[in-house]
Amino acid sequence: METKIYTGETEAELKLLAELLQADELVAIPTETVYGLGGNGLSERAVKKIFAAKGRPSDNPLILHVPNKESVYPITSDVSSLAERLMDAFWPGPLTLVLPKAAHVPYVTTGGLESVAVRCPDNDKCRALLSLVDFPVGAPSANISGRPSPTTTRDVYEDMAGRIPAILDDGPCSIGLESTVVECQEDKIVILRPGRVTESMLAPFATKVEYDKGLQDVKEIPRAPGMKYKHYAPKGEMVTYVGTVSELVMAMTDYWKNLREDSDARVGFFVSEETAAPLQAQGLAACYIIFGKHGDVALQGQALYDALLTFDREGITHIVAEGTSENDFGRAVMNRLDKASNHQVILLGKV
Ligand code: TXA
Ligand code: MG
Repeated sequence: METKIYTGETEAELKLLAELLQADELVAIPTETVYGLGGNGLSERAVKKIFAAKGRPSDNPLILHVPNKESVYPITSDVSSLAERLMDAFWPGPLTLVLPKAAHVPYVTTGGLESVAVRCPDNDKCRALLSLVDFPVGAPSANISGRPSPTTTRDVYEDMAGRIPAILDDGPCSIGLESTVVECQEDKIVILRPGRVTESMLAPFATKVEYDKGLQDVKEIPRAPGMKYKHYAPKGEMVTYVGTVSELVMAMTDYWKNLREDSDARVGFFVSEETAAPLQAQGLAACYIIFGKHGDVALQGQALYDALLTFDREGITHIVAEGTSENDFGRAVMNRLDKASNHQVILLGKV
């Protein structure tokens, strides 16, 4: 199968992509978070194609993407007033709500659950396409299962070429990490996956905002089934350090020096400008990916998956990443860094 890339600049192109979706074919779609692998979320045939193209475990449910709030009612059986307020406040945007499903939403889509995840992406081309079909579009991130999520058309193409007929291109994703997934329990909001809509942004809407226990405690099973899988893993071995710039520079220098004996090792640093400068000044040979200023979590989050995929392309065997504090959006960035590093996160300056 040939995979074609469309810019979606004309009505005719969007119509063609809508027709593919109507025929149970898959179309990769741009969103503000990451690219999605879209198909008719109410069609078992299309959903099975999504799982096959990704190589995804079938118990991991899909998010249904809709062009507006009104499209949520037909696919859910109960929308609480809290859920309504969250949609009004954050849509279109990077917030996914888990709601009781309507009877006709197939279990292949929800991984056998009685609930369904819904989201309205903040991307004009994506919503224009979603408006042209009369069903919600199920779309997991458009990567092969276990690989970092794609934030550019090139990333999607590398994983999906030959597996899907079309990609709708809209340049790099502005957020770069997947949406926040929440469940409303009466007046409480439970965060099942941290993302750009943060705890402090949600706090004004509920009596309590808490994180799903399964996110931290290995003995608990996460309520978002996808969170239990090893995700976002680059090919190289990876470690994340959290600390001040001087602590980072010291730890990273030691790490680099310890590898010097290994002639096959190729180091990749994912660091801030402040951390990179002294490492480079010492002449430490490595592939440097510099996201921006130390502590700029928005840029760090946006650059992360792109960096991991770039390291893979460059044949990097050892990745050393700068972490951040777990405040606000930092929580989502650290959640992805923790998974990518296979939990090798080292807090410097703490004994
Ligand atoms: O930003 C995003 O959400 C991207 C873009 C493409 O929209 N999509 C995405 O989809 O990240 P995916 O399939 O990679 O992740 C969906 C997450 C998984 O962790 C899944 O377990 C959880 O949402 N999820 C889906 N339906 C659920 C449900 N009914 N109950 C609990 N968790 C659910
Ligand atoms: Mg994913």
